[in-house]
Amino acid sequence: MTRAPAKKPAARKSAAAPQAAATPAPPARVRPALGPPCVEIEGVHKWYGDTHILRGVDLSIRDNEKVVILGPSGSGKSTLIRCVNALEPYQEGRIKVVGCDLKGPPKEATAARRKTGMVFQQFNLFPHLTILENCTLAPMWVLKKPRKAAEEEAMELLERVHIGEQARKYPAQLSGGQQQRAAIARSLAMNPEIMLFDEPTSALDPEMVGEVLEVMTEMAYEGMTMMVISHEMSFAREVADRVIFMDEGEIVEIAPPDQFFSNPKHERSREFLSRIL
Ligand SMILES: Nc1ncnc2c1ncn2[C@@H]1O[C@H](COP(=O)(O)OP(=O)(O)O)[C@@H](O)[C@H]1O
Ligand SMILES: [Mg+2]
Repeated sequence: MTRAPAKKPAARKSAAAPQAAATPAPPARVRPALGPPCVEIEGVHKWYGDTHILRGVDLSIRDNEKVVILGPSGSGKSTLIRCVNALEPYQEGRIKVVGCDLKGPPKEATAARRKTGMVFQQFNLFPHLTILENCTLAPMWVLKKPRKAAEEEAMELLERVHIGEQARKYPAQLSGGQQQRAAIARSLAMNPEIMLFDEPTSALDPEMVGEVLEVMTEMAYEGMTMMVISHEMSFAREVADRVIFMDEGEIVEIAPPDQFFSNPKHERSREFLSRIL
């Protein structure tokens, strides 16, 4: 899907005004084309004790695709995303990330886990490490990158999320929005194929939500595959290829955002939207 380039403002003609240098139009944001399946979820069931939490979830997400998952509290959104990141076991079904089965032989399962990055509601930065150290720890210890290379790459990522100047500070010295952007940079430092977000802005003060969503939007247009649990409707409308509506451990409806928000097909989707819109 491509977007029309932004209209150029009409040149203002005024004999008195000096010729101002024309401001270049921002580059049109173009979505990268979707690729082959990146995450394949087939018939996944999960129970906590006797409670059936995921009740047969099927979902395939393509390379470069962005899906936003919506649904009432307790519907299993976090559980699903945690299963994809191997943070939770599931009892039935199959999940593959870039072709690697999470329940495959150990090497394959490890490869699948390495390909996913995750951002949590509560940032989960290591409080005793600087922002830069938070971003270099896993690349150095897990990927065995030399410190210098890991630091250079981390600095590039911190610049990319617009907090390069915060690199030597500790998490507690940053605002919530800055901490969440640091958490995003830390995930990106592992070079994931897909990024998972579990309500990344819901712990933030309202004035910081925008800066985090902006970084996520930039990442989306750079081609990252993203699975995002969020009730930020403007983000879903702008970024999602598909909205996934979950209720009671099932996917009830999948639709492009325009269609989902204007004309939801399922009664449960309509009822949910009427409560949150
Ligand atoms: N560790 C756990 N042990 C038992 N039940 C859990 C656990 N985590 C979540 N649940 C239950 O699983 C259901 C789905 O939770 P969750 O995936 O967090 O929903 P959502 O993210 O959509 O709000 C809820 O009923 C919740 O109480
Ligand atoms: Mg949740």
